[in-house]
Formats: sequence, C-alpha cells, structure tokens
Amino acid sequence: MTDDRDPLAGTRYDITPIKPFGVAIQALGKGLHVRDIPVAPLRTLVGEHHILLLRGFDTFDAPDELSAYCELWGRLSEWPFGTVLELVEQEQPEDHIFDSSYMPMHWDGMYREQIPEFQVFQCVHAPGAGNGGETTFSHTTAVLERTDPETVARWSKVTGTYHRAMEYYNSVTVSPIVTTHPVHGAPVIRYNEPTAADDADFVNHPDLRFSGLPDDELTEVHRSLRAALYDPAHLYAHHWQTGDLVITDNHTLLHGRNAFTSGAPRHLRRVQVLGTPPLDNPGLVR
Ligand SMILES: [Fe+2]
Repeated sequence: MTDDRDPLAGTRYDITPIKPFGVAIQALGKGLHVRDIPVAPLRTLVGEHHILLLRGFDTFDAPDELSAYCELWGRLSEWPFGTVLELVEQEQPEDHIFDSSYMPMHWDGMYREQIPEFQVFQCVHAPGAGNGGETTFSHTTAVLERTDPETVARWSKVTGTYHRAMEYYNSVTVSPIVTTHPVHGAPVIRYNEPTAADDADFVNHPDLRFSGLPDDELTEVHRSLRAALYDPAHLYAHHWQTGDLVITDNHTLLHGRNAFTSGAPRHLRRVQVLGTPPLDNPGLVR
C-alpha cells in the first residue's frame, strides 16, 4: 500500500479481508513487533470489521507484557487472577472453559460488573493441525440484517435469564436476545446458547431460562437462532497459529469454541479491554 492517508500504509505488512468478516494484517518478513503498529488505526479496523488478526509479528513472551500492551487499548478487566486468563486445558477441570469440550456461544462479561468492549487473544501455542480448538465468532448484526423480519420479531420477544456459578463468580444476568450495541446502537444479539441437559461430558452446566413465548415456540427460537448464528455466512472459526494476536468487538460478536483433541498443546492468553467509559453490565441482577 502506498496511500499516505492510510496510517497503516507501508510495505512491511499486508492487509487482507477475512471471510466471511474480519481483517488480517500479516507481517512481511521477520522482526516486526505488534507494538510497532499504532493502536488508533487498529481500533478503527476492529470497529469496522469486528475481528482483527495480527499474524507473523513478534508478540509477548510473558503475560505481563501482553497486559501492558492491552493497556494501550483501554482499561482492563481485573479478575482474581489478574488481567490475563491462561486458557489451557486442565486435567480435572471444574468448568468447561478449562476442558477440551466445545464452548457454547456467549458474550464475555455477561456475568460480571462490566462488559468488555474488546477481547485480546494471544496464541502462545496452537493446538496443531487437525486438533480442532478453533475459537468461533458469530457476527450478530449481520445475522439480524439477513434474517427475515418475522423471525427477528419472534426472537425479539424472548428474554434470557442466565445463572452461572464457577470459580470466579456466581451471578444471574437477564437480557433480551435482541438488543443494541452500547456504543453506536446497531442491533445485536446477546444469547448464551443452551447445551443439551443430557450432555454428561459438558462440565458445569449453567442454568439458562428463557421467557416471552410458549415453550414450543421457544424451541423454534433456539433452533432458528442456532442455525443463523452458525450459518457459514455469519460465522468465522479462527484456526490458531502460534503467535497470532486476535482482537475482537465483544459487543457485536458472540463467541464460542470448537472442541479439541484432549492433550493437544492449545494455549491461549486472553485479556479483556473495557470501553471508554467502561460499560456497566445492564443485565446483571446479582
Ligand atoms: Fe468467552
């Protein structure tokens, strides 16, 4: 790129679209660090494309280096463990987040005092080809735009009441399925996809209840929502490569995880960046 007005213009990296949504910046050659790219144009790209992948750059050896970089993006979510979540499979997990199972669609911060605007993931070690473990992202504004209005009207009648107890919280959140992006007001979906109650391999089921329609219509709402969220036209499954840095728009997207081979060396780090100002969780009951 040679356009002087483009702050990312230069010959040292390449910018390409991701299908079906998102944008990738690939380093051309070795020795470029993600810190070498100014944050302001990256923030603009995340706003426009909802997912930004930085690939082939030098990243961060230690979690506190990743955390310090993320502070350039905004205030960080603080957890009992600090700001960096180490996503590694545990041998006897007490929650599905640390298992190798699939992770249902959800939004980050749904059970916390504040909802992060961005997620930053660093892939410390990829799970390896053929081992699964893709992080899945659904573009909910696109889903709403491309779904027939009667179906969206049915979804809009439904409210989810979500209760989840795990190591870091025991919270109840109430949210309409169809709501608006807290920054620019575009329609978005907030939904935690139910798992089958008889899925005995799924560790620590949350308690999810939905109201607003009779049960038989709710069944159809879940079916049609799931079909739309996982439609390849709206779903991006990120195949991790070691060194990837992925930054996402948590207010527009829902995300989950494909199951992976137990014992595969999948290691991600995740930091949550709060908005400016931070968004108090509108649905948190306790
Ligand atoms: Fe998450």
